[in-house]
Amino acid sequence: MRDGEIIGEGFHAELGGLHAERAALADVARRGEDPAGATMYVTLEPCAHQGRQPPCSDAVIEAGIARVVIAGNDPTAKAAGKGPGQLREAGIQVDFVDPADEIALDARLLNQPFRKHGQTGLPWVVLKTAMSLDGRTSTPAGVSRWISGERSRELVHVWRGECDAIAVGIGTVLADDPLLTARLGGARQPVRVVFDSGARLPLDSQLLATLDEAPVTVVHGPDAEPARVEALLRAGAETIAAPGAIPAERATVALGELGRRGLTSLLLEGGATLAAAFAAADQVDEARVFVAPLIIGGPLVDVPIAGLQGSLVESKVVGEDTLIRTRFKEW
Ligand SMILES: NC(=O)c1ccc[n+]([C@@H]2O[C@H](COP(=O)([O-])OP(=O)(O)OC[C@H]3O[C@@H](n4cnc5c(N)ncnc54)[C@H](OP(=O)(O)O)[C@@H]3O)[C@@H](O)[C@H]2O)c1
Repeated sequence: MRDGEIIGEGFHAELGGLHAERAALADVARRGEDPAGATMYVTLEPCAHQGRQPPCSDAVIEAGIARVVIAGNDPTAKAAGKGPGQLREAGIQVDFVDPADEIALDARLLNQPFRKHGQTGLPWVVLKTAMSLDGRTSTPAGVSRWISGERSRELVHVWRGECDAIAVGIGTVLADDPLLTARLGGARQPVRVVFDSGARLPLDSQLLATLDEAPVTVVHGPDAEPARVEALLRAGAETIAAPGAIPAERATVALGELGRRGLTSLLLEGGATLAAAFAAADQVDEARVFVAPLIIGGPLVDVPIAGLQGSLVESKVVGEDTLIRTRFKEW
């Protein structure tokens, strides 16, 4: 930005692609503008290390930028403070936005998967649920398809395309035989993760039949029959052995392994038993709940959900449903 005019813009479009700073400087060049003496506004502090891309700090210094305004710090050990330090050494004015400012919060919220994964090694977890007015996520017979309306389901496909992974419990796979792909044009496909202690995932399931569309990872327990695990591997699935005395512990162990495999965000699609394990492990960062205008009735299944208190992010009408977004953690 110079003299109140935007002379270039950029963002980090994909893993391995140009970082936002270099993308913005490329845009400045495309527009035939000169970045020397300009102010650069960034959501995340410029990095100073060689990763899949060269250091951003070098590009900013070479471009002759006079001032950098940073809305969010980089909490990862390899980066924290190094880029801003290099910029200051090169005589560039560096200003951080007050962390309490709304813009700083917005910048942090944009980067939740990166920030959580960078600090904890675990993917950022969004729990998605669709429920009836009487709080049921399936009928007593186990049918849950079409609780939410078409518009809500479309939105879920967008979210799937935004996440690195989707997870369900084996109860959901056995009840619904879901595909769990992102079925909106252009979306990337997340890794489909099934929590399945006994490695019971049917070899003729839709998940395994569509491995050419998206990978499948089965999280099994230490006591799963080796022959079943072997069969899943032969069918083309990946596996994670997750030990732990209780479901919550196994969920956390599995999250750690998914994080080690480079997955930074996970859309937890249920069912209620798996969601309860994640909640008990305090590993739900955000919930997105669709409430549909129907009453299912029948006896309520008692799922021991841990008491989590969150803050409302958004509540809006989506087609026939109401979407309620609640944030439990901010990284
Ligand atoms: N409305 C919605 O948004 C929605 C979304 C999804 C599903 N559903 C419905 O929910 C129903 C299925 O829900 P559900 O509660 O029965 O099953 P679920 O949560 O899908 O799966 C639970 C099973 O996952 C396995 N599991 C493996 N590791 C686990 C861990 N660490 N923590 C917890 N579970 C683990 C356990 O079986 P093992 O011990 O054998 O591994 C457990 O019984 C279906 O009717 C489905 O249609 C509704």
